[in-house]
Amino acid sequence: MFEYLTAGESHGPRLTAIIKNLPAGLKLEVEKINEQLFRRQQGYGRGGRMKIESDQVIINSGLRHKETLGTPLSMTIENKDWQNWVEVMAPDQERGEEVEALTNPRPGHADLAGALKYNHRDLRNVLERASARETAARTAVGAVARQFLAEFEIDVYSHVVQIGNLKSESWTDLKAKDPARFENKEAVKEYFSKLDETALRCGDSSKTEAMKNLIDSWRANGDSVGGVFEIVVTGLPVGLGSHVHWDLKLESKLAAQLMGIQAIKGVEIGAGFKGAGLPGSKAHDEIYYNLDRGFHRSSNQAGGIEGGMTNGEELIIRLAMKPIPTLAQALHSADLISKKETTAAKERSDVCAVPAASIVGEAVTASVLARSTAQKFGGDSMTEIKRNYDGYLEQLRKF
Ligand SMILES: Cc1cc2nc3c(=O)[nH]c(=O)nc-3n(C[C@H](O)[C@H](O)[C@H](O)COP(=O)(O)O)c2cc1C
Repeated sequence: MFEYLTAGESHGPRLTAIIKNLPAGLKLEVEKINEQLFRRQQGYGRGGRMKIESDQVIINSGLRHKETLGTPLSMTIENKDWQNWVEVMAPDQERGEEVEALTNPRPGHADLAGALKYNHRDLRNVLERASARETAARTAVGAVARQFLAEFEIDVYSHVVQIGNLKSESWTDLKAKDPARFENKEAVKEYFSKLDETALRCGDSSKTEAMKNLIDSWRANGDSVGGVFEIVVTGLPVGLGSHVHWDLKLESKLAAQLMGIQAIKGVEIGAGFKGAGLPGSKAHDEIYYNLDRGFHRSSNQAGGIEGGMTNGEELIIRLAMKPIPTLAQALHSADLISKKETTAAKERSDVCAVPAASIVGEAVTASVLARSTAQKFGGDSMTEIKRNYDGYLEQLRKF
């Protein structure tokens, strides 16, 4: 269920994503996929490309009258810049003399390791695929997963909590400060939805101006900016994932796939690294029971996962994004062919893409959770999966 493949080069004609084994009968709105593609293109600090492209998905198979057929769902996203790259990226044409090879690898990018590994003498053969343009395809896959999860009232959100060295409050601290504020899920939805109208998707508007200034001043020095964002998922039932084998644990799937996002260098679940420094009595979430809520906790240091399974609390994940490797003030490099001293290549580039990465993080999280949900509740059609899901909820109620 929900296995997928993406294909396509950054400046090739289009990106492709194919999702295998979607259940039949899932209602899909193409507009909702385009909404997510739009969200990925926003954020203060993006490069020139975002101005020329407004991504739109085309569904090529697997959907009929807005419902999945249970057959492979294939989607494409045209690269609007393709007409400027026809000669350079021509799939079915000999290389013209005017096509120059890129030979000055960028530190921090896939350029050098990729060229050596694949025996390429032109770095473009590597960077075109390593580029985070690919994340548009994963965002489209995630948008399908989100629509599946919405059928079970599972919502995936994110916010930015650090730009460069400027920090704002984590989700856990925000809730601890004013527990009544986020008591119902509408309030949670409202908090996160409003972030889409802001420049950096940071919930603390008093920090946003300083964060924008940091991006401007680092950009003025030819530099780039990284940061941290959090993913928050509400509405998860107990028991997605499993304790019985390492590769069935939900956090192993989440961490692996989230680390697969370009430039993500750290993943924490719940209290994460901070939790390592706490005494055990402060690091764990005490268990309570009442008829109304069933088993529940008074805190969420575990971030919603214990023993590789969801425990019914919110899933909270923190991700660190390194600064963008392409720098206007290029770093020292060595030429691939002449081996002489040079400076790194300067492709058109973002200066800060943390808000965009948070949308990709949501998409990747949604696709992992959709797969785990479909696996747990199995079935070929939405009717069957929902019947299994309702039966499981009933079993939990009667426990
Ligand atoms: C949304 C997003 C946008 C990015 N934009 C750029 C960019 O414009 N220029 C760049 O050099 N790297 C960009 N990156 C990061 C590179 O793709 C990434 O650093 C590179 O592929 C090397 O992979 P690694 O950082 O995971 O080792 C972006 C990453 C993300 C998630």
